[in-house]
Amino acid sequence: MGHSIIYKKEVTSTQEVAHELARNGAEEGTVVVAETQQKGKGRLNREWHSPSGTGLWFSLILRPDVIPQKAPQLTLLTAVAVTEGIMEATGIQAQIKWPNDILIDDKKTAGILTEMQSEPDRVQAVIIGIGLNINQQAEHFPAELLTKATSLALENDGTTFQRADVISAILKRIEQWYFHFLQYGFKEIRKRWESLAVTIGKEITAVTMTKTVSGLAEGITEDGVLLLKKQDGTTEYIYSADID
Ligand code: BTN
Repeated sequence: MGHSIIYKKEVTSTQEVAHELARNGAEEGTVVVAETQQKGKGRLNREWHSPSGTGLWFSLILRPDVIPQKAPQLTLLTAVAVTEGIMEATGIQAQIKWPNDILIDDKKTAGILTEMQSEPDRVQAVIIGIGLNINQQAEHFPAELLTKATSLALENDGTTFQRADVISAILKRIEQWYFHFLQYGFKEIRKRWESLAVTIGKEITAVTMTKTVSGLAEGITEDGVLLLKKQDGTTEYIYSADID
């Protein structure tokens, strides 16, 4: 991955640039990195704050020969790879919060946004966007975010990291797991995801677009759907939600 890295000083969103490149035939493994994004996109149409020079904001183009229903598995694969890459490059313990937030000490340090270009029965391209807070100090975060968000440097007594080391560790892990996925499927990745996840085995509350459900997070399905066992013994399938 990343044999072709396109570096931009400023973009609206690396997702948009990667979508355009993919539509024009860019090859699998192409990565778009930006120093800053004017309109970084988060999950659920939220804005992703992408200040210059402090974090890693990048999008990766994959072209797996799979049906569109399998694409969410790539998000979970990426969450595993980002978590492992952070731990390898920094020695800091990181964990995954369903669906795809990377936490350190219970605060979010990275997020993943997966988008797809597809035909009804075939994926043409999956665009995986990764935003990772690396060298921000406390004053870089809006006050209301400080209890919920962190950076690698903040979790390392303020000492900063080389962003190149972190991105190369992450891309290496994505490549390893992606080739594993193409050859052997999702089984091992799901196990690894569950072992790195803070969410599993805990009593949680999921706030979906339509309702709020509490219960025991039992695990995930093959497609990354969260299984929530409610007090009445039934299991709720959570497709998209914020977790408390
Ligand atoms: C989330 O909501 O947690 C996902 C955040 C994803 C942000 C990254 S930054 C690089 C890429 N470009 C974007 O506009 N978004 C993703």
